[in-house]
Amino acid sequence: MIKYLGSKRTLLPHILRAVGVGAAPGALVADLFSGTSRVGHALKGAGYRVVANDHNRYAHALATCYVQADAERWAGRAAAILADLERLPGRPGYFTATFCEAARFLHPENGERVDAIREAIATMGAEPELEAILLVALMEAADRVDSTAGLQMAYMKRWAPRALKPLRLRLPALLPRPAAGPCRAHCADAEALAPDIEAELAYLDPPYNQHSYLGNYHVWETLVRWDKPETYGVARKRVDVRTRRSAFNGRRSIGPALARIVGALRCPTLVVSFNDEGWVERAELEAMLRARRPHLEVIEIPYDRYVGARIGIHNPRGEKVGTVGRLRNVEYLYVSSERRLSLSAAVPVEAVP
Ligand SMILES: C[S@@+](CC[C@H](N)C(=O)[O-])C[C@H]1O[C@@H](n2cnc3c(N)ncnc32)[C@H](O)[C@@H]1O
Repeated sequence: MIKYLGSKRTLLPHILRAVGVGAAPGALVADLFSGTSRVGHALKGAGYRVVANDHNRYAHALATCYVQADAERWAGRAAAILADLERLPGRPGYFTATFCEAARFLHPENGERVDAIREAIATMGAEPELEAILLVALMEAADRVDSTAGLQMAYMKRWAPRALKPLRLRLPALLPRPAAGPCRAHCADAEALAPDIEAELAYLDPPYNQHSYLGNYHVWETLVRWDKPETYGVARKRVDVRTRRSAFNGRRSIGPALARIVGALRCPTLVVSFNDEGWVERAELEAMLRARRPHLEVIEIPYDRYVGARIGIHNPRGEKVGTVGRLRNVEYLYVSSERRLSLSAAVPVEAVP
């Protein structure tokens, strides 16, 4: 899966345990800020019926591939198409000019292959689930040979060693449909979607500060949309990064937006991820959760900060600027329910490998 700020890869066992307290496998569970869809994928693998959502299109492609699409339906066809796409010769176009020449996110030889493969996918007219699988295969292949520290605000001054390797397509790890029924992926603002969600449990993992996911992953957004937008700045960001905002990136708007979602969801139990760098204070979040669901347990998980924090802060010329703060954080999982739940009695739910 792609490198992603705030990805819950290492927290999956804790999240599965917390979800298992409020909902048994087979239940309907919603993930309103799905990002890479690692959480939804693990829940689907554990037998839950999952509804995933994210407002960015690249994340919707990831959720359509990893949560909605079922392996038994698509794996064979997708593998055959990927084998054909892998053989296409490079053909320079928008992607190469914008992200490999004007900027240096990928080596131009890989950029030319991205252009050729993306144009072929665009002309194929594939069903939405199949198209999402092909786009995710391409996004992940490009991510493995990128020349960044994980964010698309800047790129390395010299090519990262992996950027000189050839781009290779792999079939994403699709999962079979759970016995309980199909899973779904939405692409909506979480606040707009929340009143329509009626599920046993909802998992909430919103952004917690000013860093916009669209700005940090604009190359994937453009790759998935393939709308070849006007761009600006050294990083060649799409112009709509300036106008497409999330309430969760505003210091004043984040608390009220989260409170509205917590109030609107028709789910007896919520599991909320938040960490000690977030703009909502622990006491405020606890009061917000207790207002609708009186029973609350909090799991504290210390973890290493995002790799970018360890590498340091660099300007567009690759020079180190500024200072790096602490390297360890505490991640909190708030389990908030209408009924009394016992985390200590939790039976661990198996994650897929
Ligand atoms: C912390 S990340 C989620 C990470 C995810 N749990 C994972 O493991 O990859 C937050 C996600 O919320 C999405 N997002 C931000 N504002 C949103 C909004 N208003 N509605 C829906 N999604 C939003 C971002 O695109 C981002 O993918």
